[in-house]
Amino acid sequence: MFSSLKSKVTTIVQDESFGSTQKMQLICDLLRNEIPYYNWVGFYFKNGEKRELKLGPYAGAPTDHTIIPFGKGICGQVAESNENFVVPDVEAQDNYIACSITVKSEIVVPMFKNGENIGQIDIDSDTPDPFSKEDELFLEFVNQQVAGIL
Ligand code: SME
Repeated sequence: MFSSLKSKVTTIVQDESFGSTQKMQLICDLLRNEIPYYNWVGFYFKNGEKRELKLGPYAGAPTDHTIIPFGKGICGQVAESNENFVVPDVEAQDNYIACSITVKSEIVVPMFKNGENIGQIDIDSDTPDPFSKEDELFLEFVNQQVAGIL
């Protein structure tokens, strides 16, 4: 599944008829449509010089959490740790921002450009404990591709 998705992501990234925001939107839609346990897919980016994240393109239910301070929730922790954060069970997390009561698990993978953590991809799942190392590697690939067009 991930190898064919990687080539679809590459095709989107290389398509000169789309701008970078459209490309990120198409990637969110692709991942949400093609991976059954990806129920919400979105990009957050560092908001200028502020120590906060701002929501970018996403697919899934609208969220109130369009701004997330560094350190808050899974996303805000990844903004500071620079590490992937896999959450098999969101109820076991103290520092977690709930977007929907249906969400059971989450994965956040940071995006780097020139060695700097510029944002992240965030996946929410309604399935408990669905994420493996394959998801991490795939999402790292997606972020490298996206960083290349920013
Ligand atoms: N659950 C995230 C907040 C973002 S929503 O999932 C879209 C967090 O704890 O950082």
